[in-house]
Amino acid sequence: MNFRTLSAQPLVEQMRNNLIERVNLLKSKGLTPRMGIVLVGDNPASLTYIKNKRKACELVGAQFELHQWNDQIGPEEFLANLEALKNNPDIHGIIIQLPVPEQLKHLDLTNLVSPEKDIDGFHGMNTQLLFKGCRELENLLPCTPKGIVRLLQHYNIAVEGKEVLVIGRSLIVGKPLSMLLSNYNATVTIAHSKTKDLIRYTKNADIVISAVGKVNLLTAKHFSPERKTTVIDVGINTLNGKLVGDVNFAEVSPLVANISPVPGGVGPMTVISLIENLVIACEKKIKG
Ligand code: GUN
Repeated sequence: MNFRTLSAQPLVEQMRNNLIERVNLLKSKGLTPRMGIVLVGDNPASLTYIKNKRKACELVGAQFELHQWNDQIGPEEFLANLEALKNNPDIHGIIIQLPVPEQLKHLDLTNLVSPEKDIDGFHGMNTQLLFKGCRELENLLPCTPKGIVRLLQHYNIAVEGKEVLVIGRSLIVGKPLSMLLSNYNATVTIAHSKTKDLIRYTKNADIVISAVGKVNLLTAKHFSPERKTTVIDVGINTLNGKLVGDVNFAEVSPLVANISPVPGGVGPMTVISLIENLVIACEKKIKG
């Protein structure tokens, strides 16, 4: 089958141009969007993600500051430092880069950032929007789900009435994504590590979204060409020093209608959605 590669690049460029205009408008009103990222320790994967976020900020004319704290920092000092960031009126969006070291894991991390600065979209006040049926993407919704919905829309892949399988039930991707897609009238099934007979589900879905983080989780045996499936690969894994997703692209692509690449698919959509959230947070500050 001739498959289509759902590259993020054209959409990212379009979104970036829109964001540049919005940032310029904010600047003309005296506000420059500024992102503050908290990193505890020096996790190499986190440093790579942060580098991408910094670059994305700079490309739209937004500002960025990294607050890198010692990996031995105790909860009290961590909370005090964070309070200062929350109270800084020049910072419009805050991210606590995950994962954090053991001594901080008991903290209610997703609710520590004030909802109006929560550009990850993890705070209960923001995730609640999804429970209430929100599908309006100009809200502080979690970035990967937002990016995936925009990618599907860009390639005219309808979700209404479609069977969508989401593999993974994380707070960052699987759970909010399932809810958002159901708000768009998809019939959503959530599979996870205890799901029996995954093939039964992948073969019967119109859209399969894998957010697990396991190399070769999905291979040729999971798909039938007659189903004309769309595959969205959220996985970020390394194999022999290369970045790969959860899906074996070479095996699966000839069997499906649409497939997102890794790298160049969901990753860039997540980053541009984060920048969009920063701009939204800043715009809301003006609107009050
Ligand atoms: N670590 C990996 N992905 C993410 C993300 O989307 N947000 C935060 N805060 N940390 C992460």
